[in-house]
Amino acid sequence: MTVIGTGYLGATHAACMAELGHEVLGVDVDEKKIESLAKGEVPFFEPGLPEVLQRTSEVGRLRFSTSFEDAAAFANVHFLGVGTPQQKGSYAADLRYVRAAIESLVPLLEGEHIIFGKSTVPVGTAEEMQRLADSLVKPGSSVEIAWNPEFLREGFAVRDTITPDRIVVGVRPGASQAEAVAREVYATPLEGGTPFLVTDLATAELVKVAANAFLATKISFINAVSEVCEAAGADVTLLADAIGYDDRIGRKFLGAGLGFGGGCLPKDIRAFMARAGELGANEALTFLREVDAINMRRREHMVQLAKKAAGGSLIGKSVTVLGCAFKPNSDDVRDSPALNVAGQLSLQGAQTTVYDPQAMDNARAIFPTLNYAASAKEALQGADLVVLATEWREFVDLDPAEVAKLVRNAVIIDGRNVLDAKAWMDAGWTYKALGRSL
Ligand code: UDX
Repeated sequence: MTVIGTGYLGATHAACMAELGHEVLGVDVDEKKIESLAKGEVPFFEPGLPEVLQRTSEVGRLRFSTSFEDAAAFANVHFLGVGTPQQKGSYAADLRYVRAAIESLVPLLEGEHIIFGKSTVPVGTAEEMQRLADSLVKPGSSVEIAWNPEFLREGFAVRDTITPDRIVVGVRPGASQAEAVAREVYATPLEGGTPFLVTDLATAELVKVAANAFLATKISFINAVSEVCEAAGADVTLLADAIGYDDRIGRKFLGAGLGFGGGCLPKDIRAFMARAGELGANEALTFLREVDAINMRRREHMVQLAKKAAGGSLIGKSVTVLGCAFKPNSDDVRDSPALNVAGQLSLQGAQTTVYDPQAMDNARAIFPTLNYAASAKEALQGADLVVLATEWREFVDLDPAEVAKLVRNAVIIDGRNVLDAKAWMDAGWTYKALGRSL
């Protein structure tokens, strides 16, 4: 098989499919990316992926190329994992890379081929791509477009791909090879009992955005309740524990704090709203505007809290921000709440110093004006205020007594509600958190 697009999703999919025993060619137009992957180097941080990439490359099951001619000749099964970012100046998804991949690949294909789209796309895209492919394919050859959404989480990408929660395949009406081919591709997880759902194309496309919209809503729900907790003098973390015991609710994704970011949740809920509007169902998803607004409000609220904790003004204060990745175990800073807060603190006059175990290079590229320290220890030196913005294990494990010796003022705001509040207060810290009155 080939995997077209070797970003986060595609590179992971390619390596994991090779790990499952398939012969895989990863294809991308980005020469630097392909060069790095071909050398066995993963151009982003994902635990476990470099090992899989090296292992499968060494035995010759995984190769990379920038040539669509190679792709067309290599296999009859193709996965599409290109990016679908938010369009500039609109909420909608930008489908140019999906279209470009079809336009580059399909005219070169000979015989019967199947393309499984994995990218997150607006409902209706697969059908449109089938029409596009039909108009480009050589006479006598054929291409089927199917949709096989990807649910992997950054930080758990290898595990989520090799042993997924579920496999969804959207197939076109009438004659289709997609289910049979997908059963072969995913034979290993299917033998392991992974649920396999075959749907129409539109349902498969919607499954992905609906799942992400639900997760975003769950996070914003608890963050909205967190605002009420603060106003009422209650504790959102205990509340989340208590409601989480109800297994209809569940404790996962009730982590109140700085809210969600990353390359998926924010853009996916916006694209979902935009598409619903185009389909005449705009009222259905207006609540997602509120989900988005609650989420963005967290960042402002954090800055306000920091200002208050700094005595009313941030001007000239040394503020240490621990973490700038959008979540731990990732070097991704796309729409990162942590980096956004660091940027705002700096714009409001604070001397802002950031430390993150993995995301510093990516952060520096976006916000070159912040100070970047080489270690947590260096970042904490002389701080007037500490803000925990990404819950890396390294930060959760910090010893409050040791950290107190480094800073000028022992004041910390726990933006992710992960520190042991009592231990920090016992060590003499003024401890503040979102959604808790302590
Ligand atoms: C998400 C989906 O989980 C995944 O299924 C989909 O394929 C891609 O989008 P990812 O972006 O890797 O995955 O991150 P996820 O673990 O879902 O976290 C998203 C954001 O929500 C992070 O910024 C995280 O910090 C935040 N979050 C998560 C919370 O604020 N509270 C929580 O309780 C959980």
